[in-house]
Amino acid sequence: MSILPIVTYNDEVLRKKASPITENSDALQKLIDDMFETMYNGSGVGLAAPQIGESLQLFVTDADPMTEDDDDEPKYGKLVFINPKIIENGDEKVTYDEGCLSIPGIRESVTRPDEIKVSYLDRELKEQTATFSGWMSRVFQHELDHLNGVLFIDYLGSFKKRLLKTKLNSVVTGEIEAGYPVRPKN
Ligand code: NI
Repeated sequence: MSILPIVTYNDEVLRKKASPITENSDALQKLIDDMFETMYNGSGVGLAAPQIGESLQLFVTDADPMTEDDDDEPKYGKLVFINPKIIENGDEKVTYDEGCLSIPGIRESVTRPDEIKVSYLDRELKEQTATFSGWMSRVFQHELDHLNGVLFIDYLGSFKKRLLKTKLNSVVTGEIEAGYPVRPKN
């Protein structure tokens, strides 16, 4: 397994709509293992393929570090999502701080539906459906956004975006130390 460098927020691969995956392969299985290693190395709870420069509809998650102190939150461990979709959004919305391995050093609050019903293929490309709420739901929605070219900072108001501009710039120039390998786009 290898740790892959993570692209930063201004890389155009993060703005593209990712392509669906149609067949399994050794290369795909290796990519999934590398993505888990890369995610854990950056202390992330989710990582989408575009973040390591692959425009594919694939993300990996392990939301358990977010919920370890909360017995009410279910534990899911490592999950792989291929060609994922949200089938249904719940009515209740919740607001929490989010961060992103492609935007190191920045956390902002984002409002999203609490409960979602989803469909996806697992790493054997078997069809699955699930209902998520709490942190697992939030992580899923954040990572799914990556497959559609959307970043969490897109949800911020224009005033907040202006305030963030200098900080975002220092992500690109490398002034913000990510603490894991990054591939800034200059
Ligand atoms: Ni992210």
